[in-house]
Amino acid sequence: MTTVAHALPNILTTQTLTNDELQHKLDQAMAQPELTTEGELRHFIGVEGLAKAQLMAIIEKANGYIVGNGQIRNSDELEGCTVMNLFFENSTRTRTTFDVAAKRLGASVISIDIAKSSTQKGESLRDTLWNLEAMTADIFVVRHSSSGAAHFMANEVTPNIAIINGGDGWHAHPTQAMLDMLTIYREAPRPFEELSVAIIGDIKHSRVARSDIAALKTLGVKDIRVIAPKTLLPKGIERYGVTVYNDIDEGVKDCDVLIGLRIQNERIGSPLLPSTNEYFKTYGITPERLALAKPDALVMHPGPMNRGVEIASSVADGDQAVILKQVNNGIAVRMAVMSLAMQGQRAMQALAHA
Ligand code: CP
Repeated sequence: MTTVAHALPNILTTQTLTNDELQHKLDQAMAQPELTTEGELRHFIGVEGLAKAQLMAIIEKANGYIVGNGQIRNSDELEGCTVMNLFFENSTRTRTTFDVAAKRLGASVISIDIAKSSTQKGESLRDTLWNLEAMTADIFVVRHSSSGAAHFMANEVTPNIAIINGGDGWHAHPTQAMLDMLTIYREAPRPFEELSVAIIGDIKHSRVARSDIAALKTLGVKDIRVIAPKTLLPKGIERYGVTVYNDIDEGVKDCDVLIGLRIQNERIGSPLLPSTNEYFKTYGITPERLALAKPDALVMHPGPMNRGVEIASSVADGDQAVILKQVNNGIAVRMAVMSLAMQGQRAMQALAHA
């Protein structure tokens, strides 16, 4: 059972606030655990609910770590901090770039091998986290197959540790969304407000699609298109302010950015597609389809990619692809998010001890 005292134990002892002020701060913190009472990040669980200024602050801070031809500069902002990577699901890009990002900020990094941890002996997530907290972690980066796992940790289990969501179930992948936004910010020839962005593929099972749509909307993109067969579209997706296309040739016409998505086989119970060959013929991003978009359109993909299924190799490796730049930008975004969240946690702790 969540209690206010559990969420913010030290604030309850603060003598300098009136009861009304204290209650207001506690209500705010419980309603939006991602933010400090001053509206700064202290966790990063999702992009929904964050304002344009907050997303731009992440983008600009991340952009500030990138120098020259895409090199990332080091900083000492997390010196003395311990970042623990808790990946309950497989990952190549997210886990490794968080590791690199934390080291570039001067933190110690511990990647817990969940397959060899005591969760395999039946230890609950709550107990695992409390034990790791006792080892003086400052940031938990968590990937979990259950939607809401990061929120649960931030709100109920370890509120005094910055929780960064590395992807939870079908729900959200906010650092992927922010690295996608940083890539668009750096590479697209027009500002967010003037772009047409197409997200193509398995929208239904994709946490990246959900987080990208939320971030694009907040950043002012007016024309967001989702392109997929009906079986790979969630019911009611239109209510998020996107336009649905079942025909890819129609959907990519005059687009500025094409974001391809992988078929999330691990989240699909029964086959929803006749065959991968058929899917490529009908929905694959091919050179012919790319030619229907604007001549300077960007091709993006969060990875891992299935070449010849959702994207042709010649497009994935072509001049318009920024897929590996996305990976590099992921380091900068993860540095920015960890640094901002740690600042927020420190501010909350200072307030609690005031
Ligand atoms: N894009 C992404 O989340 O990739 P990984 O699963 O390899 O982390």
